[in-house]
Amino acid sequence: MKRAVLVDGFRDSLEAVVAHLRAGFPVGMPTETVYGLAANAMDASACRRIFEVKGRPLDNPLIVHISDISQLDSAELGLVRLNEDGSADLPMNLKQVLDKFWPGPLTVLLPKGPKVSDVVTAGQPTVAVRFPSHPIAQRLIGECGFPLAAPSANKSGRPSPTMASHVMYDLGMELDFVVDGGACEVGLESTVLDCTRTPPRILRPGGITLAMLRELLPDVCMFGSVESEGEMEEMLSRPSTPGMKYRHYAPDRPLHLFHQCSEAQISGFIEDQLKQHRLVVRICSSVDALTADAAYERIFLSRTGRDLAEIAHNLFAALREADEKNPDVIVCEAIDEGELSESLGIMNRLSKAATVHHVANDLGLQS
Ligand code: TXA
Ligand code: MG
Repeated sequence: MKRAVLVDGFRDSLEAVVAHLRAGFPVGMPTETVYGLAANAMDASACRRIFEVKGRPLDNPLIVHISDISQLDSAELGLVRLNEDGSADLPMNLKQVLDKFWPGPLTVLLPKGPKVSDVVTAGQPTVAVRFPSHPIAQRLIGECGFPLAAPSANKSGRPSPTMASHVMYDLGMELDFVVDGGACEVGLESTVLDCTRTPPRILRPGGITLAMLRELLPDVCMFGSVESEGEMEEMLSRPSTPGMKYRHYAPDRPLHLFHQCSEAQISGFIEDQLKQHRLVVRICSSVDALTADAAYERIFLSRTGRDLAEIAHNLFAALREADEKNPDVIVCEAIDEGELSESLGIMNRLSKAATVHHVANDLGLQS
């Protein structure tokens, strides 16, 4: 059976990988957020292969990755200037936003340029563009000489991969090459900022927070916070509004997420499970909140107190590790520190991964 060759992106030659991309085939590629499943963004059939390999619904668009801001113009990817009639209506200081946060974990939605295939944008009039900071991603895009379309390199619906081994596990049999660039520094996918609407809004929270963007875009807001009922309905009917239609990030085993619950309430639930001889794995946000010994397995998201960057970095690997232990239930507490903090991105992923939500004072199951 075929199995992908694992290439060490820092030491090995990338020649064969680049040749493969030039021939129109997808490869696993590290970025600073999560691993991507990359193919030539300007080649519709190469992009179709991404959807096939990942098992991704064709109506969920891809992010285009560039290694130089000038590629926005040269590849006619996205229109960054205002149209004469003002129809594009982009934020006036978009350029400053890109200068500040690129390269890095920010994806911007722009009006689609004429050369971008409908396969990439799933027929949307907008294109999502990102300039990753990972040196290997930049090198691959640079050596190819074309932008790379890349969704996260997981099987559709599974937690995003933050290590090359995760990509091998999910897609190793379907790929020829996975480039290893070590553990992804950020660990959550990029923040997706829709610049084609006024005010601009965040469709998917990530490492670049609302607070960080507000310094340059004072009116930026979260998707869902300013829309009229009609606008909301129209947006939700589009499958491309990230995460609205498809289940995401989910481990195979049921994940129970506890919102605003006390330690006693969570422990009570676990004890009850243990009494029924059910195997429990608990994902803990920090080490300090817990007693030294527990009658169940624990995975710690943060070892240095409750550090949100560390929690984000470890989250997807923890969901995969919990799954590998094959428990009856995975238990995790909500990590909610408000809209402006990095916890928003963490909670967005955890909420979508959860099978059952438990809310304080109501330990019955809710859908
Ligand atoms: O950090 C990241 O963004 C990673 C790395 C590999 O760059 N990529 C990633 O891609 O997370 P993916 O496909 O797993 O998530 C992209 C999200 C999807 O929710 C998709 O619906 C949304 O971006 N998206 C892409 N193009 C869009 C468009 N034109 N309009 C609205 N949403 C779009
Ligand atoms: Mg994804």
